[in-house]
Amino acid sequence: MRVYVLNGPNLGRLGTRQVDVYGVTSYADLVTMCVDTGRELGLDVVVRQTDAEHELLGWLHEAADEGAAVVLNPAAWSHYSIAVRDACAMLRGPLVEVHISNIHAREEFRHHSVVSAVATGVICGLGVDGYRLALLHLAGRLATSD
Ligand code: DQA
Repeated sequence: MRVYVLNGPNLGRLGTRQVDVYGVTSYADLVTMCVDTGRELGLDVVVRQTDAEHELLGWLHEAADEGAAVVLNPAAWSHYSIAVRDACAMLRGPLVEVHISNIHAREEFRHHSVVSAVATGVICGLGVDGYRLALLHLAGRLATSD
């Protein structure tokens, strides 16, 4: 089963970006971790990152057309992009929103995500483990759905 793991702006810089907040795992390591976790769980995981909003919208449209499950870290777009939220609302498969940091314990402008209301569930503050937990959840969920 195909699962898209989609990442928004600046996440390609993981490993060097604000390591006190986002940790030392590089983006390349995150990709490997998601693909390996997917393999263990019997999922075909495709991991992507973009700094261009229209590109993320295209990937969400693709997932919507396929009825695929999505793990999404919308990064800064979480807090203001109605376009990303609208694209998420078109998904037919489950959507797990992931944030590496605990957005509720940070600046007030990060406390609200416009995506959360259209997500199946949200994981935040557990570091890059959040991606693994999201995939674990989806594997169980997809195995029991028709
Ligand atoms: C983030 C939190 C956002 O507020 C921030 O803009 C990011 C990353 C996280 O993973 O903790 O870029 O989504």
